[in-house]
Amino acid sequence: MFFEGAKIKKFSLLEQAEKAFKKRGGVYIRPEMKNFYLTTAIDYANGAPHLGHAYEKVLSDVIVRHKRMSGLPAHFLTGLDEHGQKVQQSAKNAGVEPIAFCDEQAEKFLSLCRLLDVSNDDYIRTSQPRHIKVVQQILQQLYDKGEIYKAEYKGFYSARQEQFLQEKDKVDGKWPEIFGEVTEISESNYFFKLKAYQPWLIEYLETHPDFIYPRFRAKQVAEFLKEPLNDLCISRPKERLSWGIELPFDKNYVTYVWFDALVNYISAVGFGTEDFGKNWPADFHVIGKDILVPPHSVYWPIMLKAAGIELPKSLLVHGWWMSSGQKMSKSLGNIVNPLDLVDRFGSDAFRYFLMREMNVGQDSDFSVDLFVTRYTSDLGNDLGNLLSRLLNMTHRYCGGIVPQARAEDNFEKDLKSLAAETAAAVLSHYDGMQFHIGLEKNFNFIRAVNRYAEQRAPWKLAKSSSEEDRLALETTLANMAEALRLGAVLLLPIMPKIGAKILTLLGAEVPKVYDGALAWGDSLAGVKVGQQEILFPRPAPQE
Ligand code: MSP
Repeated sequence: MFFEGAKIKKFSLLEQAEKAFKKRGGVYIRPEMKNFYLTTAIDYANGAPHLGHAYEKVLSDVIVRHKRMSGLPAHFLTGLDEHGQKVQQSAKNAGVEPIAFCDEQAEKFLSLCRLLDVSNDDYIRTSQPRHIKVVQQILQQLYDKGEIYKAEYKGFYSARQEQFLQEKDKVDGKWPEIFGEVTEISESNYFFKLKAYQPWLIEYLETHPDFIYPRFRAKQVAEFLKEPLNDLCISRPKERLSWGIELPFDKNYVTYVWFDALVNYISAVGFGTEDFGKNWPADFHVIGKDILVPPHSVYWPIMLKAAGIELPKSLLVHGWWMSSGQKMSKSLGNIVNPLDLVDRFGSDAFRYFLMREMNVGQDSDFSVDLFVTRYTSDLGNDLGNLLSRLLNMTHRYCGGIVPQARAEDNFEKDLKSLAAETAAAVLSHYDGMQFHIGLEKNFNFIRAVNRYAEQRAPWKLAKSSSEEDRLALETTLANMAEALRLGAVLLLPIMPKIGAKILTLLGAEVPKVYDGALAWGDSLAGVKVGQQEILFPRPAPQE
């Protein structure tokens, strides 16, 4: 298991201690706790939001919601990466100032977050003064320590990738397509002493196997570190690029966009202030596999080490959504617009699909057909159907009031033990980032509740006038309601709206934490349920 369950346990013990103490009339001061701090990559401002951006945010949101429900206070950061050549160019093409261009882009990315119910606590933009201040502070500190020096650079430069190139970057003697136009340049620049930290980084990665998750991704970093590192050019002359953060020690240059962007993780949580320790070190930087090497696994740890700042606890590296085996990209024209799917199916169905289909860390192929299949079978036929038959029968046979379970036979015993097993398994899979398996288990349970309904057949029992059948009917409906309540609680991190809606229709509370909400009980007995509602309407056929 990836997370230590001990931490979660410790917190609920703490809560118990607090409750017990309060009961005795005392005043309890809870010891200061660090937030569970999770960040996403900050999106490039030059493009439109797509499925990859949506996935990273949903995955991060699910982790944070799960943590919060496990009783941990959390801080969730996402944001926008605004500087650099490409943004400067896009703004120029649009005939506006870079900041005006970025304001518009920030609106688009933020509305994606709102549309997907992403519960971020903060949104950082690298053009904000709070960020610029910290970038300059770190640069000055490193410069004063002698970690940054000026030198003449002569060599190849890719404007598209905003990167200096070496002969070894060529494939079959040519610059690969991704670099766009490559020119030979000669200029003075500032360099960060990356190379000096190479032995330290190698050792750090070897002695901290949990730093990169999933572990197999660490191999890629180790491979990269087999070659000697070059010092990192962290400046761009202003005559070439003006849209960036000015170097505090030389006004003729701006900061290289990656050096600038990485600092967001600390600038957003008050680096240099008393509050910093409330969040830092980050528990997770959630990133895609394309930005692990070298920025997050080489530049970032070395920047922090050189500046004397603690490293983040771990990098959570997810895979890519592909389209027929290829990465989605603008040039291939196979980009999926998340907004279309959310419009058609709702944000919770979209979140469900992303989490059910992707094994975190691996790649996954996206197809609308697969989406529709999951939507109609898991959500419509299994979950939606369970809710609708339960509400229907509760109104029909019990006046809309959840009855009391008053008997127990083998079917009931099996259902209860499956409920307990499911709750434990789902939580442990969520803890271990295996959301696809956690969801599979929960939906197996939901299918089992539908089977239980068929075994007991309350619609047949309702036709009988015997007291025994009435008891069985009421017991069945009560158990179906309780089972669905548990299933809905377990769905909350992934489907916050649908989970809450089901609970509300059942007359149940929407819990903030799992604690106390996952035990089988009879809290629904006597409660009035809501009216029938279709949660997952059949999708309209697409022209
Ligand atoms: N701006 C940099 C990150 C700086 S972090 C200090 C960047 N931006 S991005 O907009 O190109 O990508 C943002 C995130 O989306 C990255 O983690 C990237 O891996 C992820 N994805 C982009 N396309 C993707 C898919 N097709 N599938 C899944 N995620 C992918 O990189």
